[in-house]
Amino acid sequence: MSFAWAKQYEPKTGLTKWLDEKLPLPRLVYNAVGAGYPVPRNLNYMWNFGVLAGVCLMIQIITGVVLAMHYAANGLVAFATVEHIMRDVNYGWMLRYAHANGASFFFIVIYMHIFRGLFYSSYKAPREMIWLLGVVIFLLMMATAFMGYVLPWGQMSFWGAQVITGLFSAIPLVGEPLQVWLLGGFAPDNAALNRFFSLHFLLPFVIAGVVILHIWALHIPGSSNPTGVEVKQESDTVPFHPYYTAKDGFGLGVFLILFTAMVFFLPNALGHPDNYIEANPLSTPAHIVPEWYFWPFYAILRAFTGDLTIPFTGITLIPAKLLGVIAMFGSILLWFILPWLDKSPVRSGHYRPLFRKFFWFGLIPTMAVLFYCGGAPAEEPFVVLSQIATAYYFLHFLVILPIISQIEVPKPLPFSITEAVVGQDPAREAPRAGVVNGGDAGNLPDGSLQPAE
Ligand code: HEM
Repeated sequence: MSFAWAKQYEPKTGLTKWLDEKLPLPRLVYNAVGAGYPVPRNLNYMWNFGVLAGVCLMIQIITGVVLAMHYAANGLVAFATVEHIMRDVNYGWMLRYAHANGASFFFIVIYMHIFRGLFYSSYKAPREMIWLLGVVIFLLMMATAFMGYVLPWGQMSFWGAQVITGLFSAIPLVGEPLQVWLLGGFAPDNAALNRFFSLHFLLPFVIAGVVILHIWALHIPGSSNPTGVEVKQESDTVPFHPYYTAKDGFGLGVFLILFTAMVFFLPNALGHPDNYIEANPLSTPAHIVPEWYFWPFYAILRAFTGDLTIPFTGITLIPAKLLGVIAMFGSILLWFILPWLDKSPVRSGHYRPLFRKFFWFGLIPTMAVLFYCGGAPAEEPFVVLSQIATAYYFLHFLVILPIISQIEVPKPLPFSITEAVVGQDPAREAPRAGVVNGGDAGNLPDGSLQPAE
């Protein structure tokens, strides 16, 4: 959104004037993340995670490109080249630990970013496109992380690749040939390692491209905020620089302290020890577990233990494995329709009493149970717990959310962001210059007028 009160870029030196005419990059930066971008004045720390996600992506690309200079995607030497990076390459251990822990931190940051979006309903109009592009990014991140984990060619790499590509074999008729085609053979081997390396190198740049679209889409409506009430007037905003460069800078400092503490003091805490054993197709590990960030979805996959059959006939309609695969992919794909499932005109969870209860006492514990069960062995009580949590997960998004969005009586919204922050807004009594549509526009998700109180 372009605000009438946004500061304008003025090139001061001869060089910047020349650049502004030929390639106005400084103007672009000024308008995107500088003083020329007005941002709601009440953003809390949950709004830091987008920038942090961008930093994580950069850390992964930089460390990954240097690691690739010393790594060889060949089944005979891949494991040894990783050991070579750890022992012989100058600061190779640091690069590798930064990359491996960087992936974990990237997911922590993204989960915070997504759950911020779920609590404040950032997915609602007019920000659906930002959300949809975010879901695409998340799927690409998962594919990238999965393929990256195969590269060190340890036991978990090999068996993880076997299990995950094996999921495709559950698809009727084409499943088995599809798995062979994906792997380039009947089991993970050189062909698989090569194509996974190639794609693992490529996908982060694809993600970077989608992130550019994500930020572009964000700059059209601008950021939402903890009240969910849209910006109406100048006093609702502050320029991104210096206010949010400072706030994001502080968040980045905290992030870097935690990140470096992990890299230097607990570098293997989030990894699996079996991945320090070279891949051995003849020895299956007792428990094949993916990286922690996949656990909730792995729990959904394993929650389906029985085939779907026609009652009293014993005829199988959908085998258990295929049910699990459908549910696992479905649990993320349903986020694509989320903006249309939740019909409430109010965005922020702070003003939605029922929604908030189901969020904190329904969705969050469910995710915690799925997370725990995904990392646990496939035995009782974890199987039954995964089944209950999986059922609630789908119920929450497909049934509970649509129903509460229709029946819930939201708490009264503040007149404006300014009122929410300082307690009173002069524009409420006397509309003044710079107030959009008399100050009423934009409380509804489509940006239309909020009925007068
Ligand atoms: C590499 C990954 C990503 C990067 C670099 C990124 C970056 C950003 C940035 C910088 C912002 C603005 C600041 C903020 O609101 O935190 C933002 C906003 C947003 N992002 Fe992301 N994002 C990523 C992934 C995702 C994912 C996976 C989703 C959802 C599935 C998502 C959904 C959103 C939404 C809905 C907003 C608007 C929030 C609002 O204004 O209330 N993003 N993103």
